[in-house]
Formats: sequence, C-alpha cells, structure tokens
Amino acid sequence: MLFSGKALSVQMLDNGIAELNFDLQGESVNKFNRLTVSELSQALDALEAADGVKGVLLTSGKGVFIVGADITEFGGAFSAGPEGIADLMNKNNENFNRLEDLPVPTVVAINGYALGGGFEVCLGCDYRVMGDQAKVGLPEVKLGLIPGWGGTVRLPRVVGVDAAAEWIAAGKEQRPDAALTAHAVDAVVPADKLKEAALKLLERAIAGELDYKARREIKKSPIPLNDTEALMAFFTTKAFVGAQAGKNYPSPVAAVTSIEQGYKLDRDAALKIEQEQFIFCAQTDTAKSLVGLFLNDQAISKVAKGWEKKADKKIERAAVLGAGIMGGGIAYQSAYKGTPIKMKDIDQKGIDLGLKEANKILSKLVARGRLTAEKMGEVLNRIEPTLSYDGFDNVDVVVEAVVENPKVKHAVLKEVEGKVSDDTVIASNTSTISIDHLAEPLARPENFLGMHFFNPVHKMPLVEVIRGEKTSENAIARVVAYANKMGKKAIVVRDCPGFLVNRVLFPYFAGFSMLVRDGADFQEIDKVMERWGWPMGPAYLMDVVGIDTGVHAEEVMAAGFPERMGKSFKAASDVMYEAKRYGQKNGKGFYNYEEDKKGRPKKVATEESYELLKPHVADRRDFEKDEIIERMMVPMATELARCLEEGIVDSPAEADMALIYGIGFPPFRGGIFAWLDNIGLDEFVKMADRHADLGELYKPTERMREMAASGETYYGDK
Ligand SMILES: NC(=O)c1ccc[n+]([C@@H]2O[C@H](COP(=O)([O-])OP(=O)(O)OC[C@H]3O[C@@H](n4cnc5c(N)ncnc54)[C@H](O)[C@@H]3O)[C@@H](O)[C@H]2O)c1
Repeated sequence: MLFSGKALSVQMLDNGIAELNFDLQGESVNKFNRLTVSELSQALDALEAADGVKGVLLTSGKGVFIVGADITEFGGAFSAGPEGIADLMNKNNENFNRLEDLPVPTVVAINGYALGGGFEVCLGCDYRVMGDQAKVGLPEVKLGLIPGWGGTVRLPRVVGVDAAAEWIAAGKEQRPDAALTAHAVDAVVPADKLKEAALKLLERAIAGELDYKARREIKKSPIPLNDTEALMAFFTTKAFVGAQAGKNYPSPVAAVTSIEQGYKLDRDAALKIEQEQFIFCAQTDTAKSLVGLFLNDQAISKVAKGWEKKADKKIERAAVLGAGIMGGGIAYQSAYKGTPIKMKDIDQKGIDLGLKEANKILSKLVARGRLTAEKMGEVLNRIEPTLSYDGFDNVDVVVEAVVENPKVKHAVLKEVEGKVSDDTVIASNTSTISIDHLAEPLARPENFLGMHFFNPVHKMPLVEVIRGEKTSENAIARVVAYANKMGKKAIVVRDCPGFLVNRVLFPYFAGFSMLVRDGADFQEIDKVMERWGWPMGPAYLMDVVGIDTGVHAEEVMAAGFPERMGKSFKAASDVMYEAKRYGQKNGKGFYNYEEDKKGRPKKVATEESYELLKPHVADRRDFEKDEIIERMMVPMATELARCLEEGIVDSPAEADMALIYGIGFPPFRGGIFAWLDNIGLDEFVKMADRHADLGELYKPTERMREMAASGETYYGDK
C-alpha cells in the first residue's frame, strides 16, 4: 500500500500499475471535501516518490465515481472572500495539475456519476473509460458557479470550444453515448468489464502503443483557433447562452468568458482566468441562493426520508377517487413510478379523460425516445380504471381528488371509509378546504390527512402533506413514503385555510388586485414580476390556474382570514369571472388564448379585458417597477412569516422550498426567507411600512420587527 487514508488509498497492482481508489469512509458517495483534497495531495506525494510506478489507474470504491465538491463547505469558504475562495480552488488545482504532470500515463475508470470536480479529475487524466451506466458532466452553473478545478480549461482542449461551452453553460449530465460522441471519453464498456478495459488501455499506454504525452501536451497548451473563428464562435455562443440564462443567472456567460479568455493561453495561465471568473460568480447573490437551495433540498429530503422510515408498511397499492385533471395526473405519476393504482370516478367520461391524459404524457416520452412502447404498456397496465369500489379493501392509500366542494367531499370520504380496511390511509387533494373540517364525518380521523399535489402533477415537484388535528404520525409517514415513491418533494405542514402555499399565494394575488384597482396595467405587472424572476406574472398565472378556481379559493381564504383577506372591493378576477372569462381553460381570461403551431395555448393581449375592468378601476397610471414589486411581494412575505410563527411550517428551509417547488418562486432568490435575509429585515420592514395604508397584509409581524431591530436572520449564519 503506497498510501492509505480515510477518503482514498493507493496500492500497487501487478506490472507497476498503481491503483488510486476513492472510497470516502462513512459516506455513501465520494466527494471532494477538504479531507479528500488533502489526502489526494498526500497520495500524489507517495506516487511521485515511489519507485517502479509505470502507470496510474483511478477507480472508485462506491456506486458512483465522485459526485463533485462538498457543497456544505462552500458557505464558509465563500464568506471568507476572494482569498478564501481562491484557497479552496488552489489546493485541488494543484492536485489535478500534479496528476496531469505525473511522469507516467494515467487512466480513469468512470463507474458511475462523475460530476463537477469528479469529472474535472477525470479530465486531468490521460484516458477516460466509462461504464455504460455512468454519467459525466459539469453542473456548476446550477449552483450559480462555473467549474473551478480546470473544467473550463481542460474540457475545451479535449472536446473543442463549442461543445465545451455547450456542456458547461447547460450544466447537464451527459450519458455515455453523448460523452463518447463528443470525445470526452475514450471508450464506453459494460460496467462489469470496466476495470479490465481501463487496465488494458493503461498497459497499452505503458507499452508505448498510445502516445499519452502528445495528449497531455494538447491539454496544457493554447487551443489552436484562428482569431476570426474564435471571435465569431464566442460572440454567438455568448449571446445565445446569455439569452438562455437571463440576467439573473450570470454564471453560464462567465463560463464562456473563461473559455474565451483562456483559449490562447497555456494551462496554468488559463487556470488563473478561470479562477477570476469563479470568484466573481461565487460572490453573487445568485450563487449564494442556489447553494442555499441545494442544501435546503438535501435538508427536506432528509426529513422526508425520516418520515418514510416511521411508516408501518410500504405503499404497494393505491387508489384515487376522481379521474379529472388531478386524479388522472396522480394515477399517471403513481403508475409511472411503479405503484399500481385504482382510478375511480362516477362518470365513464371522467375515466376516459384521465386515461387520455396519462396516454398523452406517455406517448410524448416514447416519441422523445425516453420510454419504450413496452414500458408505456406496463405503466398503463398499472392504472386500473373503475366505476366501483371493488378491491378497495386491499389498498394502502386512497387519494381523494373529486370536485372542490365540502359537501361532495364529506359524502365521498365517508363512503370510501366504509369500503377500505381499518388501517388504510385516506388523503384529500383539496386545495383549500380545512382537513379538520373534512375529517368531521369520519370514524377514523387518525387515518385521514391532506395530500396536496400541484397542477400538472407530473411536472410540479411539490406535495404538501397536511396534518390535521387528529392525524396520526403513521398516516403522515405512509403518505410521505408514497410521495417519495412517486418522486415528489413532500413537505409536512399543519392544517389551515390554503395550507402553506395557497395561504401565501392569495395574499400575493390580493396585492395584484389592489394594484389593478389603483390604476396599474396588469400586463405591466406581469412583465415586472417576470423580470423579477417568476415564471409567469400574476394575471397570466391566474389565467393558467383558472379564474373560477381562483375566485372560489379567494372566497375560502377570505372566510378563513377575514381580517387580512376579507374582500372590500370588486377585484379584477371577479370582473373576469362575471364575464365568464375563466382563463386558459375557456380561451379567455385576462388574456385571450390561441393555439400556437405545436397546439399549445399562446396568450395574446386583448382590449376586451381593459374595457371590462374600466368601470371598476382608477384611471391608468404608471407605477415604478419597485413599487409594483413591493406591493406584490410584501403580502406574500408577511403571510409566510406568520405561517412560520404559527407552526404551519416547521422551518424557513421547508417554507422556501415549498414555494420554489410548488409555484416556481424564482430559484436564484433562494426562497422568500432567503430573499428577506438578503435584503435585510430592517429594509423589509421599512418597505412594508411604506405601504401600511394598503391594509393588514402589509403589516410585518411583531416578530419580524423584533428580528429587524436585533439584526437576526431566518437562516442564522449559514
Ligand atoms: N386543478 C388544479 O389545478 C388543482 C390543483 C391542486 C388541487 N386540486 C384539487 O383537486 C381536486 C380535483 O380537482 P380537478 O381539477 O381534478 O377537478 P376535475 O373537475 O377535473 O375532476 C373531478 C373529477 O371527480 C369526479 N367525481 C365527482 N364526484 C365523484 C365521486 N363521488 N366519486 C368519484 N369521482 C367523482 C368527476 O367526475 C371528475 O372526473 C379538487 O379538490 C381541487 O381543488 C386541483
């Protein structure tokens, strides 16, 4: 053994080959944490000093190769400023350069995920052999960063500047076929032949059959590009990448800049350029938010896994009541992820609709080559359409997704409770009705709770799991386990009108209604909020949700929180509703909808909406962009703070993730609490106070004022 550590080891195999094996103790995956970086340096000391080493093979002792840097270490390093960031980068850059400069050939056997730093170390090797199940890639832009351990230097020298810019700016994981086509790897082999193939390649390099030194030279030298070619290539790439990412996400352009400024230089000089760009990105609010979001995502997954462990049994059979938009989507998602599901409706038309929806989604996957026709058949077979309760005594979970009417839901829930076994958990997909209220007619309220999916179910990651007064821990655990199995992000919240997401979404809509009432142009509001980062502005969003659904929910919210959400004027949504403009579903709402070439609804502005609104709103006037943002965001933020204080949600991280996964809150802002921390609560309180005359929704809570005064933040020092 040349080196033996807690993260990696080096041992001599036959024929002078040293195997550098990554196997981080106590972890399920390999990553470049400080320990691994420091041990790699020691392992290189040993390799450089050893006699008789003729070649080095890099392998992993885990199911993955190396998943990347340890992101939990970023916060500390980044807050230490440019020097701290440079320090984090330099140590591993030294390692990778030393690996690349070893006097013997190097081959890596990529057995599983090799992402970020995990792929950058592969690029430091002379040859790359990839298992047929592995994936490689540089996903740093997803964290608002760029590769910082030579990715923007070595990848363009290996695959060319265009492909490298595309890979890095998109941050996508690449499958073996794509990696081979791009020449990012030298061979793809079946997983069980990987080590053997990598060893063979290394032996050939040792024997002088392959010119590893020539390859190395290419990676260490400037890229031979003619100036005009380069100018054209970078000019168009930058414009394209910039337009795709948008101004809120600067890192993809920074990655292309790093390639552009470094291509004429040798490796070491190009690495310095990369570091400048990395430091720039690491200090942006976007990177801070996206890194925070990554950590929050891990935190909520851990909580969800914790719940799953507490469940008394695995979910093997499910049922859904109501085969409408939501029921159909739930049946599809359950079946797609492997849980057979009965889909019951009272109307054959409903069932046909539900099945058609599932068919449509699956056909698209087949057309895109992401699913075989055989697999599609298997998924459809897992959905059992039915008009009766036959076999309901055999299911572990029932999700109720019938119409949003408390009387109908009471009747349906009571009925189904009589058809299932005593321990079956019944969950309602209601979007607004209180779980405690729905539980009233039930004999076993402990087995009842909310399981709130978002539309469209197969696309929206969030599931709110709503705990009623009497809901048992086991019922929550089973439903969270089911959500996990469906590939969803479950967040457990307490019962109240609107639960968490709709409770804060409707104050935001109230902000919109007041702005329109006071003379703002709804299209202008949409534009400003979209530029702020929302995937769609509030008027467009209401059209997509359905104006009728929205108006109904507004009533529920007004009844639940009359002091803040009670209605005192005719809102723009009421005007649209009365004119039967229900939004996208009937082709007209705030906007009119036409079909685009692909048959998707496309919004177009119409004077009709303005005419309808005219008698109910003040004369049109211009609002400053910031005023629009403040008037929209303050009600949402104050209501979310209330939810946290009331224990509706357990932590700022869960609240932030719920809004990102449920309604597309701009990820680069990290969530509302992250946004509040970023602007500072004292600033927020001043902002809210400027709009105090708009009513209760604009009043920060006492706790917010206390936090503002004492300088506290929601995330502490993270
Ligand atoms: N559509 C959304 O955006 C959305 C989002 C989240 C939650 N929800 C909630 O999901 C639920 C369903 O909404 P939807 O949009 O799918 O409605 P929908 O009108 O598309 O579907 C409701 C279905 O329930 C069926 N149904 C009615 N009574 C029934 C009964 N007794 N037994 C079995 N089936 C019955 C109807 O035939 C219809 O097919 C509602 O509670 C709604 O609030 C909807």
